[in-house]
Amino acid sequence: MTIRTIGVIGAGQMGSGIAQVLAVAGYDVTLTDVAANALETALSRISASLAKMAARGKLSETDRQAAERRIETSLALSDIGRCDLVIEAATEKESVKQKIFDDLVPHLKPGSILTSNTSSISITRLAGRTPHPERFMGLHFMNPVPVMQLVELIRGIATDEETFVAVQEVVERLGKTPVVASDFPAFIVNRILMPMINEAIFVLHEGVGSVIDIDNSMKLGANQPMGPLELADFIGLDTCLSIMQVLNEGFCDPKYRPCPLLVKYVEAGWLGRKTGRGFYDYRSDPPVPTR
Ligand SMILES: NC(=O)c1ccc[n+]([C@@H]2O[C@H](COP(=O)([O-])OP(=O)(O)OC[C@H]3O[C@@H](n4cnc5c(N)ncnc54)[C@H](O)[C@@H]3O)[C@@H](O)[C@H]2O)c1
Repeated sequence: MTIRTIGVIGAGQMGSGIAQVLAVAGYDVTLTDVAANALETALSRISASLAKMAARGKLSETDRQAAERRIETSLALSDIGRCDLVIEAATEKESVKQKIFDDLVPHLKPGSILTSNTSSISITRLAGRTPHPERFMGLHFMNPVPVMQLVELIRGIATDEETFVAVQEVVERLGKTPVVASDFPAFIVNRILMPMINEAIFVLHEGVGSVIDIDNSMKLGANQPMGPLELADFIGLDTCLSIMQVLNEGFCDPKYRPCPLLVKYVEAGWLGRKTGRGFYDYRSDPPVPTR
């Protein structure tokens, strides 16, 4: 199975990064979103990132231009139907993802492979709503996609070997390192990372430490490059909450209960960097803690 054309659904921070690395690796990419401004923002972000790579000598000028030309955008989900491989990278909500696959299926060409970049949702359940669950799997990139080396590959219960190998080859062509995770809530990375972030929010909620002291503790005391609250803002607090909810519901273990303060921030629409405010307020430079 040779993959040449790839459709990316959702042009947020992950979808735009995924489109960028695919185009640099030589794939023709169609990027779609429900919001026209998300597509515009994605294109300018990709353009700026490619220009930075070219300026640093990581990409020739010819390759930069070729990569930009390989990305087309569309507001019509049906345009994704012509692609050999589909990567769904829309909002982390099962109902949103299910509707996307329901709407996309009638437009798919025969033999196409479907994947989801979900951080936590059951691949088997998403695949179960499609007519060919054997050609469906999890393809989980890390943020920011152009920088991070790891990609998690997740087989649903029905995923066949041909599909797995075809997707693994794409990851290898991107120069990234795949790891294989079983289809359990939040897979490997977020099963470990999210409870730590959630615990950091509990530490803040209970007044054990301030935003700055919690982040400094983990940066200087545990050698983490970003503090957990800074990282939560970077990931998106809505995404963090969704992942905790999937862990909580999936394992029925109270250790995964989302911190009420995380819920409160999401209710306020303070979703982190992408909305300008989360545990830090990014409207001032340097960002200031919001608690
Ligand atoms: N943020 C992270 O650090 C991270 C890391 C790995 C994986 N992920 C996963 O990637 C996915 C996207 O996360 P993100 O951080 O890019 O979110 P985001 O909020 O930046 O972007 C989501 C995009 O999906 C679009 N969208 C919503 N409904 C849609 C629909 N029906 N059709 C097409 N587009 C639609 C939104 O308009 C938005 O542009 C989620 O599943 C998330 O769990 C996120």
